Order: sequence, then structure tokens, then C-alpha cells
Amino acid sequence: MEARAREGVSALKGKHWFWATVLGNWRLYRDALGAAVLINLFALAIPLYTMNVYDRVVPNNAIETLWVLSIGIGLVLLLNFVLTTVRAYVVDVASKKVDVQLSALIMERVLDLRMESRPASVGSFAANLRSFESVRDFIASASLTTLVDLPFILLFLVVLAWISPWMLIPPVVAIVIALVVSWFAQARMEQLTKQTFQAAAQRNAGLVESLAGLETLKVLNAQSGAQRSWEQSTEYLARQGAKIKLTSSLTVNTVQTLQQVVTIAVIIIGTYLIQEAQLSMGGIIASSMIAGRCLAPLGQVTGLMMQYQNARTSLDSVDMYMSLPVEHPDDRNFVPRPFLKGEIEFRGVSFSYPGTTQKVLDSLSFSLKAGEKVAIIGRIGSGKTTLSKLILGLFQPTAGTVVLDGLDNQQIDPADVRRSMGYVSQDPVLFYGTLKHNLTIGSPFASDDQMLAAAKQAGVDEFASRHPDGYDMMIGERGESLSGGQRQAIAVARALIGNPSILLLDEPSSNMDNQSESALRESLRKECDGKTVVLVTHRTALLDLVDRLIVMDMGRIVADGPKDQVIAALRGGQIGKARSAV
Ligand SMILES: Nc1ncnc2c1ncn2[C@@H]1O[C@H](COP(=O)(O)OP(=O)(O)OP(=O)(O)O)[C@@H](O)[C@H]1O
Ligand SMILES: [Mg+2]
Repeated sequence: MEARAREGVSALKGKHWFWATVLGNWRLYRDALGAAVLINLFALAIPLYTMNVYDRVVPNNAIETLWVLSIGIGLVLLLNFVLTTVRAYVVDVASKKVDVQLSALIMERVLDLRMESRPASVGSFAANLRSFESVRDFIASASLTTLVDLPFILLFLVVLAWISPWMLIPPVVAIVIALVVSWFAQARMEQLTKQTFQAAAQRNAGLVESLAGLETLKVLNAQSGAQRSWEQSTEYLARQGAKIKLTSSLTVNTVQTLQQVVTIAVIIIGTYLIQEAQLSMGGIIASSMIAGRCLAPLGQVTGLMMQYQNARTSLDSVDMYMSLPVEHPDDRNFVPRPFLKGEIEFRGVSFSYPGTTQKVLDSLSFSLKAGEKVAIIGRIGSGKTTLSKLILGLFQPTAGTVVLDGLDNQQIDPADVRRSMGYVSQDPVLFYGTLKHNLTIGSPFASDDQMLAAAKQAGVDEFASRHPDGYDMMIGERGESLSGGQRQAIAVARALIGNPSILLLDEPSSNMDNQSESALRESLRKECDGKTVVLVTHRTALLDLVDRLIVMDMGRIVADGPKDQVIAALRGGQIGKARSAV
């Protein structure tokens, strides 16, 4: 899957991701087009056959000619059958191929999105991505090939003019009316589709949020609010859906009626022409068949237009996601740094979260030598977690630089940066799967021994060995089947398993009891040897592990130095606001 996706990406440099993939399969579409040309030519066969039978065979009783013509038309019908089937199959194969390539491409981009550009709502993001199905259906739909039939309207008109120029009047007038009606319907459809699309995404956002926070909704007795907004948006969507349906069926029916009117008008004109001896009986029949055929593709095209609106709205939104900044842009080459020694330096780093103006980090400067161990303390919201996220390269500073091993971290492949770092987040997230899967998710090649060693050090072994399934115990989505402390232990094991040179621990023991915390401290003491450690904590127990202390307040460093000195200064009240942190 990955190799395929990458193949797709490299082939797409500098081109539009969607059209380039579709056009990449032009050979298949070319075949479908070739078939379409023949199919349209064959469409003239039956009217011309009928005309000849009426005009030549019947008056002259030429039975032999009848059979010669009939065998000819039989062959044409057989070929037509084969071509139509092959065309549908070819279009299907092409669109399946395009679908696989596009899905891989979209997923790759979505997973590579920079955190800054990640859409705020998971639910509407998912809904918009899923709506890509309508683009896929559109390219897959066999009716797309009716577009190819459009130019053949001209051919049919020429044949009509050859039979009699008067016959042109009804189809031409009808085509003009059909175009005008479709144009107005189109504009209305566009507006309705956009509104529906947004409302559907919003409804999904609400749904996902309510499901994820179901427990909290219940505890707060707040279900009625979620229910109300669901009902409102469902009602709105139903109303919009009805409007869309009405517009679409009005247009399609108009074109169908026009088609019938044209057939009748052609017969009326034909009758007058016969009276004046300008047309044969066969001519009248052939004309009415061909004139009907002129409008048939228009009818299908108006149907297709409705599908197109849907597809275009979702293509636009997926397109928007595809143009968001990613961590590995096509035109970017990174300096290879498969292993970092563990030097970290902040040079005048300031940071605000996207869409906000508040400086969460304000001109931070400090440097850590490889192997140095530092704790960062400070009041809630002072920017400690944000600081770790900048070290991990999840976010880039709005000013200043984060330097790793003497290199601006933007020069290093984010995957390399994170391979050298073990991170325990403040609120660890686990995934659906076995405990083993969760432990080795970041290091799939870790041996069982490595996994067990990390699990023992983090205290996972203690609860895993008591469980009947051991390391095969199933963990629910987001780790909901475990306690907060157990989740934290797994997160610590996950961070240790790849033996990284940098450990970023964001309150690794906040949910643990004293005994587990001191066990963790003892194993970390061994594990941290030789590693650069950045420990964020509100608890004093783990401070044993570090030699240096940085105190943060409102995004600034208010104290930085050897642990004992900083603690003494805090106790002595020399460091104002941050005092309550210890
Ligand atoms: N994703 C986000 N978008 C916008 N603002 C954010 C985001 N995450 C954090 N913040 C803001 O950044 C500031 C610092 O947050 P941060 O999580 O770094 O604090 P912290 O020091 O880790 O706090 P705590 O001790 O509670 O974990 C807070 O004011 C918070 O409101
Ligand atoms: Mg935090």
C-alpha cells in the first residue's frame, strides 16, 4: 500500500492530483471513446434501414433486398451489443483503478497533514473525505460516457438535414430550450448541493462528538441538546434533499417531454412535406427516429449534471484538504538524520496555536546537551506540553528555531526526528487491538524480549500478567477499557521500546499511585542513563531523576538552573508567580 501510494505521489509532481490520476489511465478511456464513436454511428443504422425498406423494398416487392439489408443490420446490432458491453466494462476497470490510486493518495496526504493544518472537527473532516465516494461514483458511472455522445448530435442533425432541412427546426428549437432549462437548474443545484454538503458535514461532526463524549453527556444530563441539534439538521437535510430531487426531476422530465414533442413535430412537418412530394414515407419514419435520438444524450446529460454538482462539491472539499501543508511536501529534501545524539536547543522560540494570537511560548531560549536531564515545571497552561510538541516537530515555531544536534529541526525529516524520541503524552491515546499491538505500534520490528523488557520497566507487566489473555488482552478504542494509570504505563513502555536517545515525559505518573510511581522512578533511573530527558511534572517524586530545573510561567522561562538552586529559590519566594508549582 505504501509503495503504491508513493509511486502515485512521485508521478504527480507539479500536477493536479485528481486529474493527473484520471488522465494517467487515458488508454482505457481512449478505448471507451473509440467504442462510443462506433456505437453512435451504428445508431443511424436502424432509421436508415427502416427508411430503405419503406421506400425501396415495399413498393418494389424486393424480398431479396430485404434480406440482404436485414442480414447487414443484424451484424451491426451484434457488433453494437459487443461494443456496448465492452465499453461499460472498460469504463468500470478504468474507474476502479483510478479509485484505488486516488484513495491511497488521499489517505497518504491526510496522514501526513501538519498538525497546524489539521481540520478542527474530526466528524466533518471524516464526512467530507467520505463524500469523495460521490466523485468516485461519478467517474465510475457508465452515463459519463454519454458526454462522448454529445458531439454526435451534430451528426444526427446533418443526417436529418440530408433527409429534409425543414426537419432541423424541431430538434434545434428543443435543444435550445433544453440547454436554457438545464442552465437554470444547474445554478440552483449548485447552491442546494453546497448547503446540503455543509449541513451534512456539520451533522456528522455533532454525531461523532456526541458518541465520543457519550459518558459525559449522560453525566451532565445533556442528551437533549445533542438530540435537538441532530433532529434540526436532519430535518434541514431532508428539506434540502426534496428540493434537489424536485429540481432534478423537473429538468429531466422537461427534456423527456421535449423529446416526445419533437417526434410529433417531425411527423407533422413530414406530413406537409409528403403532401408537397418532398419526402417519402420512409423519410418521415427515419426522421422521427433520428430526431428523438438527438435529444436522448441531452436528457442523459442533464441527469449527469446533477450527479456532477454533487461530485464537484466533494471534489472541491477534498481538493482543499489535498492542498493543505503536509510534513513531506513533494519539493522538499530533508537532511538524513536517522539517529539523533540528543542535543536540543531553543533559540528565541515563540509560538501561537493556529487561528489564535495568544503567545503560548514567548521567546524561549535554552539548550540541553546530549544526556542532560531536565524537568520543566510550571502552572497549568504555562506552555509545558506545547514545548514538548515543538521538540517533536508536531508544530513549528512562529518565531525562532528549534535546533536538534546543531540542525534546524525543519531540515530533518519529521519521521527521523520522532524515531529518536520516546514521548509519553499527558493524555495517552491507545488504539483498538491487543496490548502487544499497542506496545509495538511504533516499533513493529521490536522483538518479544524488547517488548517484555519495556513492559516490565513501565509496570505494564504487573497488570498484563494478571490478565487471562496476558499480552493478547484486547484494548478498546482509545484505550477505554483500561484505567488511566494503566494507559500511562503502556505509554511509558511504548516510549522506551525503541531505545530512543531523547525521552519526553509529559506527566508520566499523574494517574499513578505512589507505589507505581516510585517503581516507575526506579526503572526510569536506569533507563534514562545516557539519554536526554525532558520531564514535565507537577509532582516532586520524579524530580529525583533530573539535575536541572526549568520553571515556566505564561509561556516564559522564569527560572533555569541546577535543581537544588531553583528549588531553594522557589521556596525562598524569589520566583514570583510560579511558586505554587512545587
Ligand atoms: N490545540 C490548541 N489550540 C489552541 N490553544 C491551545 C491548544 N493547546 C493548548 N492551547 C493553549 O496553550 C496554552 C498552553 O497549553 P499547554 O498544554 O502547553 O499547557 P501546560 O503547561 O502543558 O498545562 P498543563 O500543566 O495543564 O498540562 C494554554 O493556554 C492552552 O489554552
Ligand atoms: Mg500539559
